[in-house]
Order: sequence, then C-alpha cells, then structure tokens
Amino acid sequence: MCGIVGYVGNASGRANATHGALDVVLEGLRRLEYRGYDSAGVAVVAEGSISSRKKSGKLSNLLDELEEHPLPGSLTGIGHTRWATHGGPTDRNAHPHLADGGKLAVIHNGIIENFAELKQELLAKGVEFASETDTEVAAALLGDIFRNKLKGGADGGLTKAMQLACQRLEGAFTLLAVHADQPDVVVAARRNSPLVVGLGEGENFLGSDVSGFIDYTRKAVELGQDQIVTITSDSVDITDFFGAPAVGKEYTVDWDPASAEKGGYASFMEKEIHDQPDAVAQTLLGRSDARGHLILDELRIDPQLLKQVDKIIVLACGTAAYAGLVAKYAIENWCRIPTEVELAHEFRYRDPIVNSKTLVVSISQSGETMDTLMAVRYAREQGALTVSICNTNGSTIPRESDAVLYTHAGPEIAVASTKAFLAQITAAYLFGLYLAQLRGNIFTGQIKDVLADLNKIPAKIQKILDSSTELRELARSMKDEKSVLFLGRHVGYPVALEGALKLKEIAYIHAEGFAAGELKHGPIALIEEGQPVFVVVPSPRGRDSLHSKVVSNIQEIRARGARTLVIAEEGDEAVRDYAEHVFYVPETPTLLMPLLTTVPLQLFALELASGKGYDVDQPRNLAKSVTVE
Ligand code: AGP
Repeated sequence: MCGIVGYVGNASGRANATHGALDVVLEGLRRLEYRGYDSAGVAVVAEGSISSRKKSGKLSNLLDELEEHPLPGSLTGIGHTRWATHGGPTDRNAHPHLADGGKLAVIHNGIIENFAELKQELLAKGVEFASETDTEVAAALLGDIFRNKLKGGADGGLTKAMQLACQRLEGAFTLLAVHADQPDVVVAARRNSPLVVGLGEGENFLGSDVSGFIDYTRKAVELGQDQIVTITSDSVDITDFFGAPAVGKEYTVDWDPASAEKGGYASFMEKEIHDQPDAVAQTLLGRSDARGHLILDELRIDPQLLKQVDKIIVLACGTAAYAGLVAKYAIENWCRIPTEVELAHEFRYRDPIVNSKTLVVSISQSGETMDTLMAVRYAREQGALTVSICNTNGSTIPRESDAVLYTHAGPEIAVASTKAFLAQITAAYLFGLYLAQLRGNIFTGQIKDVLADLNKIPAKIQKILDSSTELRELARSMKDEKSVLFLGRHVGYPVALEGALKLKEIAYIHAEGFAAGELKHGPIALIEEGQPVFVVVPSPRGRDSLHSKVVSNIQEIRARGARTLVIAEEGDEAVRDYAEHVFYVPETPTLLMPLLTTVPLQLFALELASGKGYDVDQPRNLAKSVTVE
C-alpha cells in the first residue's frame, strides 16, 4: 500500500505555469503519505538525464534531502511513499529504483511474486542489484527490454518495453517509469493495484488514488486490470499488456482534498473497514504456490527448530490478543500443538514456563507496543523461539524476533484496529498451515482446500460491506443505548470480545463480550427488558452441537426480554424465531468465520459512534500505538 504520483507538464500549455514536476509530485506525496511512510523518493527527467533523491523515514526526511541536494527544474517526474513489503525501510530499498545505466527510474506499489526467478535471469545477464526489493528487479527487467530487446527504444520505446515487461510479471503491481531518452513521457501499468489518471490543461497526472493530484484537477480516468497508460502533457493513451487499445472510465472527483485522503469515506476507520477485502487478499498474496504449498519466504527460521516446538504462546494486547485467540483454535486444530494466548502485560509476571521448545508468536499492528515488546524480550531471555506477526515493516518487535510474518494491510491510521485485525488472523492462519505442512500434520491437499477457502474470503467480506444498510440503520437508532452485550462460542468468542472492544473504544459505552456458555454462570443476571445482545452464531454445518447450544442461549436471553441481534451464516433459519434482527454472513468453514462475523460488529460500532458525533479516528484517551508499559 504505497503512495504513487506521476506528472508530465508543458510550460506553454499549462493554464497557469506556477508549478513544475517536483511541486506536483511532492504535494501528491504529502497527501498520499498515509498510504505508506517507511521511505519516500522522487525522480525527474531534466537535461537529458534522470535525477533522483530518496530517503528512508517520513516525507520530511526527503524534503530535507532535497533542501540540501536540490533537483534541476523539470516538467516530467514521478514520486513514491513506501509501505515496505520486500526489504526493510532503508535508503537503498526506497523507490525510485534506477536501471539501464541510470537512464530509467521506476516506482512500484504491490508485490512481484516471481521476482526471485526474474532476478536470477537478470543476474545471469550480468545485471547488478543495489537493493533487496522486488521493485528493482522489475526496473532491471524493463531496462533490459528497453535497451536490448527494443534497441534502446528504437522499436517502440518505453510503452512497448512496459508491455513486454508486464507480460513477464506475476503478482500485484502498479508501476510508473520515466526514461531520460523520452523526457516528455511517463508510462504506467497496473494489475491488482490501484492507479488513476488526472486530466489537466497542458498537463496530465498519475496517482495511486485521486488525492495524489486533487489539488490540480478533479477530472480523472480509472484504469482497468492489466492496462498500460502513457501520458504526455497533452495525451493519455491506454492499452492492454499486449498493445491493444483500451479505454479508461472518465469521472469527476467530487471529494474535497481532505476526504480524498480517506478515499471519499467520512473517516479513516470507515475507509479501513472497506479496505479489508484488499488487506486479506494482500496478506495471502504470494504465500502459496499452485500446489497449495506454503511459501513464507520472510519467515527465516530453521524448520528443524519449528519441528521440535512442543508449546506455542501467543503474546499480544487488545485487538491483537483477540486475533491470537482465533489463531489458537486454528493452530491447535491443524498442528495439534498446545497453544496458550497471553495478554503480554500479564505474561512475564506469572513466572511462565518457557524453554527452547517454546515458540512465542507475538501479534502487533504497530510492532511498537511496549507491553508486547517487553514480553517478547523476556521470552527470548528464557530461550524461546520468537516469531512476530506484524503490520509495520522494520518496527521494533519484528527486529527483536527470530522471524517475522508481515501482514500486508497497509498503514492503519484509525486508532481502532479493523483491517489489521483481519490481516492478523489471516497471517496466523497461514502460519498455522505452514507449521502443519512442516510437521506433516495435514496433507498438502487439505492445505490447498483451506487456502482455496481463504482466497474466497475477500469477496465474501465485500458482500457483507455491500449489504450493511439495515445494520447501519439499527446502529444509528441505538446511539443512546447505555450497554450492549456480545456473546460468542468457539471462534465466535474472540469475535464477541472484539465487537465489545470496538464499541467501548469509539462509542464510549459499556460493552462486554462473553463466551455464550458462560452466560448461565452469572452474566445472565444482566439481562433485562430491552438489553441489546449481539450473538455470533456458529455455522449449523459445524461439528458438535455448538450451533444448537447457541440457539438455546438466544432463547434464554430472549425469554428475559433481551433485544437479540444475531450474526449468523446465510441459510441458518433456526435463529429467526428468536432474533429481533439477523445479519447474515456468507457460508465459510467454521475456523475462518471470524474473518466474516467481525465485519458487522465493526460497522455497528462505527455507525453508532458516528451517530453520537464522536471522532471515530481519534477516540478519547487512546493512542494508535501504546509505547509505554
Ligand atoms: C484496537 O482497536 C486498539 N487500538 C488496541 O487494542 C490495539 O489493538 C492494541 O493496543 C495492540 O496494538 P498493536 O497491535 O499495535 O500491538
């Protein structure tokens, strides 16, 4: 999830020649910085060559660099803010990446899945690499095609080279390229990653979303899958990857610049809830092959050590801890390894039993939560193996762990965690399947089936998001409620806890999650006339009699006057007689249900808090990353 900007202008043709390429690109990067802030860089074409500057860290570091080492004026340029996936957030790994003897500059958003084989091919041709990134491989491939196959552009130029390069690339990518030999052109390509064109007067723009150019134009063209666009100051040409002409969808942006950064949503939280199909898809991308074999290439840990593990302890806080509770069910089911989930701030004070056969899995969106970091440090001191599931490349917890499995949810700006939660669960599933594959607990065929079910989840989340009107209306009607309870069983129990936490932290009302079976052991005393209770119901297709027991729980509270708000699987008619409202989610295997049943509860909390007029992105008393113990 990186921020990308491209620009080509024409001093004479522009409505008001007040800005050059660098002005436009830096303004766009400022607006796109929320998409990634590990590093930033720009490249311009001027005086027959490419000039480029790039720095790790926030955009301000790049601005300081440009202050010290300014670029020449130019009307053609590209810029990038990085959310690191391959290779840590260093100067070397920052974009743009150069090729063709420094005459070509490329920036990229996404993951090139076959970068390793392409890199070997290029190394064999004598190409040298300066970074660890998949992007530099794409740049080198493009440069090799432009220089050698197309004879330096004599046979079709940068556009043709991009078409041929994209025919070789697998994965998700938005690429932008400029070349010193074609100073008035930016060429871009997209597959499974966003790119829009901005149409100006005597100038044209490219952006990963409209906030990249909204200060200059509101006329935009949305590009389709597997398309290439070539922009000059007065032309926009679109083709497919094989050169056949294509047409983009023109539209006018009616958002104000501030809301453009939120993708047109009212808040980052709403945007991030709607980012969830992509967050899950990106976390799955490139981590298994067609045979259903898992490839967690950044999980650099000796498989022999993982085979000897006889206990797993998951360490996390808050929402991340609830992801850990879901992970427990999946890991124990697939790997048959005893798995404990510990609140990190409690862990080291209970004198835990930890040794070299203990695997500690920390889960953290920020990678900076001090409670979790201190617990990981303690576990390492006790000799445990440590793996971090984290959303922030290069942050402290992954750096201090033996291995890391990154979630690819992109930056999560809202304090209340949503897309990171679903990405954490997804990564935990992948890790559990990887352990099971390594230890031979389940066959490749079974893993392939689970992966197939996981790959259907993004579309199922989208279906829930697209049918949330009734739920949102209910939430608005409940904005004055003083208490909401949440019940769940099995993997529905952590979902109930998370639903309660969301409501607490953004609507500031009492909310409590219970294991449904625990109700009769005390909490049912809380039930009185009109008490709203969400119940997360297991699949009726699941094993045991879990479903019928939870339906009985609904009857018990209904009989005592509760408002029963039920989350159930499509087709589950058994709940209807006892539910005031039923919100259905698409069918999916029981272990994967949290990826779906969580979404209505996120939307409910968002809508109720919004109805109270609260700032859902920056709730009172909270911080996005709790870096104190
Ligand atoms: C979740 O909505 C909260 N913001 C909070 O519970 C958060 O999950 C917790 O502080 C852990 O943060 P981390 O994932 O960055 O470690």
